[in-house]
Amino acid sequence: MFEKIERVPGDAILGLIEAFKKDTNPQKVDLGVGVYRDAKGNTPVMRAVKEAEALLLNNETTKTYIGSHGAAQYGAVVLPMVLGQDSPVLEAGRASVTQSPGGTGALRLAADFVATQLPGKGIWVSDPTWPNHHGIFTAAGIELHKYPYVDADNRLDFDGMLEALKQIPQGDVVVLHACCHNPTGFDLNHQQWQQVLEVIQQRDLLPLVDFAYQGFAEGLDEDAYAVRLLAENLDNVLITSSCSKNFGIYNERTGALIVVAKNSEEMENVRSQIAIVARENYSNPPAHGGSIVAEILNSAELAAVWREELTEMRDRINTLRRDFVEALKPYGLDQKYAHIAEQRGMFSYTGLTPEQVDRLRDEYGIYMVRSGRANVAGFSQENLPYLAKAVAAVND
Ligand code: LMR
Repeated sequence: MFEKIERVPGDAILGLIEAFKKDTNPQKVDLGVGVYRDAKGNTPVMRAVKEAEALLLNNETTKTYIGSHGAAQYGAVVLPMVLGQDSPVLEAGRASVTQSPGGTGALRLAADFVATQLPGKGIWVSDPTWPNHHGIFTAAGIELHKYPYVDADNRLDFDGMLEALKQIPQGDVVVLHACCHNPTGFDLNHQQWQQVLEVIQQRDLLPLVDFAYQGFAEGLDEDAYAVRLLAENLDNVLITSSCSKNFGIYNERTGALIVVAKNSEEMENVRSQIAIVARENYSNPPAHGGSIVAEILNSAELAAVWREELTEMRDRINTLRRDFVEALKPYGLDQKYAHIAEQRGMFSYTGLTPEQVDRLRDEYGIYMVRSGRANVAGFSQENLPYLAKAVAAVND
């Protein structure tokens, strides 16, 4: 039965975790998968999360199912975090939230919803985008298309993007990264988002906003600018949110699909369909991550600790970006890589070629995705001189 089944290469991003583990180079540096790292290269459990877990251990009374939409107390804290405390969308009762196994699970819910309830609609992703977008939307049976995002000189190609969006067939789905664009780190400014909104209105497109890194660019509310702009000005928006990164609970798989509809009546109709999609995928989402998030955000004290920790992570990444460009100065490469200090979030599309990435891995034990995407959180004050030296060597 299985003799014709071919072996395929594993996922390029997740594969780096194993390859890095096996490398015996004592100076090796992991700039691969998008997880936060502290100055020592660890991904520790956040203090607020530890405290919330201690409370849960004592107070949790049941492990029974939480329903296809997940725990109400989780949804109740995620909605204002994403849409804003005083959101007119929430006031109008036109937003639905469904807890999901990570942001990836939310994307799959959105994809299945589009495939089953909006048949025939194509989906448009930025070129480049998170590679798993391709897998998820194609697996759901949706036809995938690309719009330009980065030009040949590794700069944000906003004009190209906007022109392409204007050509998208009426009613199709357009995937947008709210902030911390993965893999490039190039984000749109407010004026550019406004222009995107206008094209979406003209073409009657359905935005699917991937919001996996809230809090990693400028701040929790600042990073939600695009999400809130679209939600408040459009009848229909799909938002996939993740708590994996900003709460550091990667393996608890904690995300949410938020659906914004024209009114509460339509919202309830869509919501009923999302419950079916969730049921058919995994029935009920895992509960623990959502319980942690609710425990933290429902406690003023824990929420303050969490915000402080998140600010620390964001500031550390942004400082390392600037320091890396500084470290390249002695090699005369600071101009060439100046964009690294301007990009936001965990990732930088460095502009390093696949060949240069291979050399960094083979000669220096520095691991990153072959597209040249580096996880900036893997930089540290300690490894910056080594990284700069290695990047200079492969530029020779
Ligand atoms: C990444 O892009 O590295 C993260 O989103 C992790 C993943 O699942 O790929």
